[in-house]
Amino acid sequence: MPNGGTVWTTCSSTDDGFLKIIIKDEGIGMTKKQIDMLGSPYYSLKESGTGLGMMVSFQIIRSFKGKIQVNSEKDIGTEFIISLPQIP
Ligand SMILES: Nc1ncnc2c1ncn2[C@@H]1O[C@H](COP(=O)(O)OP(=O)(O)OP(=O)(O)O)[C@@H](O)[C@H]1O
Ligand SMILES: [Mg+2]
Repeated sequence: MPNGGTVWTTCSSTDDGFLKIIIKDEGIGMTKKQIDMLGSPYYSLKESGTGLGMMVSFQIIRSFKGKIQVNSEKDIGTEFIISLPQIP
């Protein structure tokens, strides 16, 4: 968030057995095209980014049989909703 702002994180448990983690920021946001590029190796718009962060994150979430949803609006902010199955 180049101009500062708030990052919200919440964690809750859903009725269908998932742990739901929400991370919401007031950063630069992404266009639909940029969202579609997320997780591609070496895709980065940061000066010193490796472009591997999201790829690894997606892999970890997949390995736990979880789900991830991205809601983002350019110049407004971004929200990641991660759902991980709870251990019974
Ligand atoms: N919360 C976010 N808000 C806006 N853009 C984002 C956000 N998260 C990721 N991006 C965009 O997606 C790109 C890829 O993210 P990713 O985490 O894979 O790599 P990176 O952050 O550039 O590098 P690294 O994670 O290795 O430091 C980022 O460069 C940025 O352009
Ligand atoms: Mg990153």
